[in-house]
Amino acid sequence: MGYSVLFVCLGNICRSPLAEAAFREEARRLKLDVVIDSAGTGGWHVGDPPDPRAQAVARRNGVDISALRGRQVKPADFRRFTHIVALDEDNLANLRRLAPPDTTADLSLLLDHVEGREGQAVADPYFGDDDGFDVTWTDVTAGAQGLAAALRSLKA
Ligand code: 4NP
Repeated sequence: MGYSVLFVCLGNICRSPLAEAAFREEARRLKLDVVIDSAGTGGWHVGDPPDPRAQAVARRNGVDISALRGRQVKPADFRRFTHIVALDEDNLANLRRLAPPDTTADLSLLLDHVEGREGQAVADPYFGDDDGFDVTWTDVTAGAQGLAAALRSLKA
């Protein structure tokens, strides 16, 4: 059975769409057969495209995320995805609270998959300046690489 990974932040317009994009690139590079999506624990940006600053940093790194649209985490996600990966501890705590009793998804933090950065958050860039989005891209890329390598070794 293939894996399926859902990346979750608060708004689903900054960090998790970037994590989705970085992981999609890495999965393609490693030829992983994996379903990839992202969502927010909050509902304010349902139907919205990614923040223009997130679109810009993705574009600077060769990825077009303009067609993505925000959506909120739902109970069925906990059965549909093998892995649900939160961008920070607050969202991980909310995921644990939202998880239905029959959840089958493995919950983790994105940076748990990066050696030496276990337990760390990908900082929320929404209220900061443009530079914050470069930090986000660097962090989600490291997380995507670590997670993809971990899934590949699980499969072997
Ligand atoms: P994200 O960033 O969780 O990385 O998508 C945020 C986007 C919107 C809000 C907060 C964080 N907001 O409060 O609307």
